[in-house]
Amino acid sequence: MILMKDIVRDDQKGTVLRDYAAKVSFPLAEEDQKLAHDLMEYLEVSQDEELAQKYGLRAGVGLAAPQVNISKQMAAVLVPSDDEEDDTPIFKDVIINPVIVSESVQMGALTEGEGCLSVDRDVPGYVPRHDRITLKYQNVEGQTQKIRLKHYPAIVCQHEIDHLHGVLFYDHINKDNPFKAPEGTVFFG
Ligand code: CO
Repeated sequence: MILMKDIVRDDQKGTVLRDYAAKVSFPLAEEDQKLAHDLMEYLEVSQDEELAQKYGLRAGVGLAAPQVNISKQMAAVLVPSDDEEDDTPIFKDVIINPVIVSESVQMGALTEGEGCLSVDRDVPGYVPRHDRITLKYQNVEGQTQKIRLKHYPAIVCQHEIDHLHGVLFYDHINKDNPFKAPEGTVFFG
């Protein structure tokens, strides 16, 4: 099981966090199947308050392979339901070789800014992203999925895909004015 000690932090020198990760081939090798499982397991356990406390995990909605020191194009995403009546996650899958095939001109950002399991400090500022994206990826079975996402799950997926390209969320924050976002940016979260 992945624990906090296994997660690469951005202040460690020479990490894979800044590398462009390698494509994953199918059918998935056993080690890649295990990786997919472990990444999603972390998210599931971290979102369970009791278990998170037991194992000392920071809650996460996304975890990318480079964050556990494996430079491969794979990330788990688990955006939990925000509906009390229905606990079906808003988005849950392991996205492999993901590509954003189209994106809205409209930008979106989280009011509270973003955080990352690989970044131990708060970095204040808006992280402007595309409000809506069309995402193409392969699931663990190797089936190509093409889905449209908007708002929060779209932001989470863009954050995770950045990890596969060596980009961290604070790279997007305006250096001169961290709370300046492109005109017309919608805020939520
Ligand atoms: Co992150």
